Amino acid sequence: PIPVILDCDPGHDDAMAILLAVANPAIDLRAVSTVAGNQTVEKTALNARRMLSLAGVTGVPVAAGCDRPLTGTLEVGDYVHGESGLDGPAFGEPDVPLDPRHGVELIHDTLAAADEPVTIVAIGPLTNIATLLRRHPEDRERIRQIVIMGGSTERGNHTPYAEFNIVTDPEAAAEVLDSGVPTTWVGLNVSHQALVTTDVLDRISALGTPLARVCVELLTFFGSSYHQAWGFEAPPLHDPITIAYLIDPQVMTYARVGLRIEVEGKYTRGATVADLHGRMDWEPNANVGLILDRDRFWDLMIGAIETLGAA
Ligand code: BDR
Ligand code: CA
Repeated sequence: PIPVILDCDPGHDDAMAILLAVANPAIDLRAVSTVAGNQTVEKTALNARRMLSLAGVTGVPVAAGCDRPLTGTLEVGDYVHGESGLDGPAFGEPDVPLDPRHGVELIHDTLAAADEPVTIVAIGPLTNIATLLRRHPEDRERIRQIVIMGGSTERGNHTPYAEFNIVTDPEAAAEVLDSGVPTTWVGLNVSHQALVTTDVLDRISALGTPLARVCVELLTFFGSSYHQAWGFEAPPLHDPITIAYLIDPQVMTYARVGLRIEVEGKYTRGATVADLHGRMDWEPNANVGLILDRDRFWDLMIGAIETLGAA
């Protein structure tokens, strides 16, 4: 299995990514760090513990990392994820404890303890990862690659041109991109192909397990937010695509292109600029996701909920 550290800000789609990472035997989840993004870092850490507890996974450490972006103030995604960051279902007290380390040190310790390079999957703002690379530059050698949910080859969501994870901390995203560690970017252009349509919800409902019911409640809340904020008929399940792509690279096609992060921009701060057609003479520096194989993706995601529900 592929050793993975998951850096996240649950978040409804992060929650589903956690389930996929723990359910699929191709992934060896070594640690979960959380970051401020969809909600405050305290809330995202609690939510990660809630999801692991629901999945019955108690051996994976969870720690809270950076509580604000490298520069500027935090603007949470409560208009999508609610006051708790995971609105919808009622949760009990999680069995999974909070690791006392700072999330960035949990990542560092996990990399240092591994006997092979570890893949980092980053599905929130990139503050923890940029901070890790600043504090522990030698860790670059210990990271196989970073698979990121962030940006778009098209336009944005949080602002017209910028996607939420990148615009929340554009400096962090730029530092991670320029770090020399290989990166793969799953943007909105891919995740908007992963819509939780009624037939998907029906398949999850039909599993009939307590976990499946929680998932339906989560996805129903997420769907109403997306309808309200952007008029979507069905919400896009961004974050788990990163994990699905690691499990089965055929889930997504990608191109190796020149990529830049707009850190200035009067109206476009946080936009990702992917030079898909080689117009800019930029050396290719990143893998940028393009086309999702929807059937493969949903089979993996729903299969994970089924596996965990049966446990
Ligand atoms: C990203 O922002 C968050 O709201 C989601 O969890 C996802 O990581 C999508 O723009
Ligand atoms: Ca997220």
